Parts: sequence; structure tokens; C-alpha cells
Amino acid sequence: LFDRLEAQPSDSLLALIGLVKADTRPEKIDVGVGVYRDAAGGTPILRCVKAAEKILLETQETKAYLGSEGDARFTELIKPIVFGGQGARDDRIVGVQTPGGCGALRLGAELIRASGGGARVFVGQPTWPNHNPLIGAAGVEMVDYPYYDKASHTVLFDRMMGALEEARPGDLVLVHGCCHNPTGADLSLNQWRELADLIAARGIVPFVDLAYQGLGNGLEDDAAGTRLVVEAAEQALVAQSCDKNFGLYRERTGALFVKASSGEQANVVFGNLIGLARTMWSMPPDHGAAIVRTVLETPELEADWRAELKEMLARIRSLRARLATFDPRLAYIDEQNGMFSMLPLSPEAVVELRASHGIYMANSGRFNVAGLSDDNVDYFARAVVERLPE
Ligand code: LMR
Repeated sequence: LFDRLEAQPSDSLLALIGLVKADTRPEKIDVGVGVYRDAAGGTPILRCVKAAEKILLETQETKAYLGSEGDARFTELIKPIVFGGQGARDDRIVGVQTPGGCGALRLGAELIRASGGGARVFVGQPTWPNHNPLIGAAGVEMVDYPYYDKASHTVLFDRMMGALEEARPGDLVLVHGCCHNPTGADLSLNQWRELADLIAARGIVPFVDLAYQGLGNGLEDDAAGTRLVVEAAEQALVAQSCDKNFGLYRERTGALFVKASSGEQANVVFGNLIGLARTMWSMPPDHGAAIVRTVLETPELEADWRAELKEMLARIRSLRARLATFDPRLAYIDEQNGMFSMLPLSPEAVVELRASHGIYMANSGRFNVAGLSDDNVDYFARAVVERLPE
């Protein structure tokens, strides 16, 4: 049976976890995979999450199945955070709980394929390395559009819009709602508006990946672009994740929201989402969503979550500011958002930094800003600046 299988290369991003672990140097720096780290270099469980877990431990009475939509109250509570009050009341937008943002992206891709019609997904380059495999594996055709120039640190907005002129009605454009992964370079509000206009004029369907809401410039600001394009579009998909903004990573907690043309059509979409989820994971894991629901249903815990998220955001922003003042060639980092920015380093320089300095970043030059600490940010910046092109 397995004779024709070919050996697969390991995922280069996830392989970094093992490489960092194997390095015994105390000065090593893990700026690889996207997890938030505090000043001490740890990824502690949020206070509000611990408190919610205690409540669940004491009050949860059953582990009986919830069904393929997962925890419907979780999805209901996340909806206004993503779409605002008006969007939350829109019955054309339906949502289901998914195993993390990955599950939401994959479910979205399966929905696109199931809809027939050969809709294509336009994907910016560069993008998160798992986007193409995850969406493409559903059998959906992917078309690249230019997004970012690594050397000049700029969003290639005109070229992006030019490429999207080729989209047919019903084609999708995959956009990062905020905190672009891997570049940290987001669209400005004016650019979001222009994109929304194009989407409305051409009947393009936005497919928003919103995995870092709250870690760029705050929960509301980080959702502004998503809300603009979803409002402008007749139909839209939003893959949401709580993995980062609730620090729930391995609990795999997210949701897929879909906007249909009418409330009636939204019911049909919802039924299809349930059916598709059933064929993949049957039902999503409960614990993460139960935690988020408990936090959002308990006013003190919700307030604490918002405060903790602000603490994470402030730490990321202060590290960005510190890198930017270190050298003019790093100034752009303070203009960018979220966990990641990209350094214009060759893959050779990235690998060499691992051996010479114990600095572990993605092969693309993407580094996790939150992986730095006040103690090592200068060490990191010095090592990097020495290797930047003039
Ligand atoms: C990342 O980009 O580092 C994270 O989203 C983790 C992952 O699954 O790749």
C-alpha cells in the first residue's frame, strides 16, 4: 500500500521548534514559530484562561457531543468581536467553531470547492507558507498576486490591485485581516477602502484570515479592514483564530464565518458547513472554545482578557520601537504590525545566524518580534544589521 509514497520534507517552520530545542546555548533566541513570549521568554497561560479553566473544572457537567457546529455560544460571542455590533446582528453572516484558524481556512476552501463554479482563490505573495497547501489541498485553484517587496519593505498595492483586475465575479481574494504573516505589512485604511470598492464593483469574494486580532493595534483597529471588505461584499468568508489572542495555541480554537447573499442562503451555507465539517473532523475539540466562552460570558474575566491582550500588544509595540531606533535600516519594523516582520536576509544568512548566534528565524527572513526580550534585543539587532545588504 505505501510503496509509492514519497518521503516528505518536514514543515520548515515547525522544524524550527526542534532545532531550537536541540541548541544548548543559553543565549539562543527563538524568533521562529509564531507564539507570543513574555519578557522572561515564556508563553504562559493567560490569567483569564486559567480562571476559566477552574470554572469549567468545577461546573462542567458533561462531555457529551455538541455537534459539528461546535460551541454555538462561543461563535455567537466571537461574532461581535470580529464584525462589530452591526455585523453581529447581520443574519446573512453565519459561523461555526473550527479546530483553529487552520480548520477555518480548510473548511472555507471545502465550501468553495463544494459550491462548484471553479472559483479561484487569489493569494498574495509572500504569504503564510501553509496557505497554499491548506487551501489547495481542497482542490481549489490558487492564483498568486504580488503583495510585498522584501527589499524596500513596501506593500505593492498598485500591483496587487492590477492583478485583482483579472479576478472574475465569484473568485476570492485571500487577505490577512491584520498583522500580515510573514511580513507585518498591513494595508492602510485607505487601501482597504479601495480594495472594498474593487470587491463590490467586481463581485469578488473576500476570504479574510484573521488570526492575530488585537496584536497589531488593538481589537477594533485590527478588525477595521475586515469589516470594510465584508460590508462591501455580497458574500465573504472570514477565518478567525483565538490561538494567539487568547494564547490557546495547542487547543486549536477558531471559527469560520460566512456571509451569504441573504438570510435564507445563509441557512443553506450553514447546513453545508456542518456537512463538510462532519466529513473532516466530525466535531471540533471543545476545551478551547469552552474557555473562550467562559471568559467572554464572565465580565471580570473578559475585562482581564482585554487587559492581558493590551499588555501583549504593548510589549510587541515597544520591541518594534526599540528595533527601529537601533539602526535606520530597521526603522520600517515600527511601521508594521503583529508578531512578524521580515528581514531582507538571504536564506544562507538566516542559516548562518543559527550557527553563529543561536538565532532561529524562518528561512524567509521572517522573525517573531515577540520572541525577543529587553535583554537580547540589542544582541539580535547587532547580529542582524551586520548581515543586512547595504
Ligand atoms: C506561524 O506562522 O508561525 C504560526 O501560525 C504557526 C503555524 O501553524 O505555522
